[in-house]
Amino acid sequence: MFRDPHFFKFLRENVIPQIMAWPYLKIWCAGCATGEEVYSLAILLKEENLYDRCQIYATDYNSNSIDIAREAQYPLGKMQVFVENYNNAGGKKTFADYYHAKYGMVHLDSGLGKKIVFSHHNLVSDGSFGEMNLILCRNVFIYFNQILQNRVFELFDQSLCHGGFLCLGTKESMEFSGLKDHYTKISDKETIFKKKYY
Ligand SMILES: C[S@@+](CC[C@H](N)C(=O)[O-])C[C@H]1O[C@@H](n2cnc3c(N)ncnc32)[C@H](O)[C@@H]1O
Repeated sequence: MFRDPHFFKFLRENVIPQIMAWPYLKIWCAGCATGEEVYSLAILLKEENLYDRCQIYATDYNSNSIDIAREAQYPLGKMQVFVENYNNAGGKKTFADYYHAKYGMVHLDSGLGKKIVFSHHNLVSDGSFGEMNLILCRNVFIYFNQILQNRVFELFDQSLCHGGFLCLGTKESMEFSGLKDHYTKISDKETIFKKKYY
């Protein structure tokens, strides 16, 4: 969890303050895999007192991954890395506040999933989600060629409200997208883009 802690730290310190004025937040975590990323986001939103006014959609085209994500159980052996990442991401409590351990597995608190809807969705062939304020799609574009990347950027552009944020993985970029003029890159280091008002 909290993979690339610098990303979550930046999100907490620089993006959350810009979106917290919205009365209700719709968030899409696209390509959520087995759920670590979306639960990390849930923890961050809880700590920023935003979780209760969020709706989070977590999607992936791999149904097995979605099933694992819904279970919210991870091997105890991963805990050391999770704790380090959480601390480096600017966690405000201790990571142990969010889970209990049983039979070699860590069970995340069920409350973390309260606002998350998990569903199957193929970014290449399925439709857009309406009026999202924040989209996370990290480490997914690496699977796509340029044509597919453009298709998915269009999908996100249709799904994101003006002033909303799109977060990509550290090795991904909008550089070759025809839509890049619709966005402002808000950090040199992080691949986070804000959709312009146009
Ligand atoms: C490397 S994982 C990234 C997980 C998470 N976003 C993160 O950064 O920790 C990539 C995920 O993208 C998903 N994926 C790949 N192609 C996809 C597609 N066409 N539609 C939806 N998800 C896709 C894979 O199933 C996988 O779960």
